[in-house]
Amino acid sequence: MPQNYSDQHEISRALRVDHAGETGARRIYEGQLAVLGNHPVAQEIRHMRDQEQEHLDTFDALLNEYEVRPSLLSPFWNGAGFALGAITAAMGTKAAMACTIAVEEVIGTHYDRQAKSIPKSHQDEGALVKTLERFRDEELEHRDIAKDHDGEKAIGYPIMRRVIQAGCRVAIKVAERV
Ligand SMILES: [Fe+2]
Ligand SMILES: [Fe+2]
Repeated sequence: MPQNYSDQHEISRALRVDHAGETGARRIYEGQLAVLGNHPVAQEIRHMRDQEQEHLDTFDALLNEYEVRPSLLSPFWNGAGFALGAITAAMGTKAAMACTIAVEEVIGTHYDRQAKSIPKSHQDEGALVKTLERFRDEELEHRDIAKDHDGEKAIGYPIMRRVIQAGCRVAIKVAERV
């Protein structure tokens, strides 16, 4: 754990927003599965859901280790994630995959930035940086799975991507603070 107050503060914010993000991410895939559970693509969605669960479990443990409280809006991230997943899935598999591309692009970039911004002077945080880098790679793999399943061919893809990414960025700002 970092000794320096400002580093601790920075890491607390990072862990809180990551925990909130993974809460939402897992629920997006659960929302998709509620609609597409019997579709051939469900196998891929389950694979992504299981990885989000592992990410969430990791941040659960890190919140405990660093004594950081979760976002007060956790119930909201749960509901919003599920709704986003279920609504896009109801529009079809391509729309569900479009949602995945949009979300995972933002999360992948977010983890990349975090991994690079954690102070290198704190060797204790080396393991945390490694974790963030692995998660970044897995989120980008999710994006690629969604591209392989024609997410970019969804009707209204550019606008959908823009709206969902704007929502994700607002959620990140809010979850850092609340
Ligand atoms: Fe994740
Ligand atoms: Fe992901």
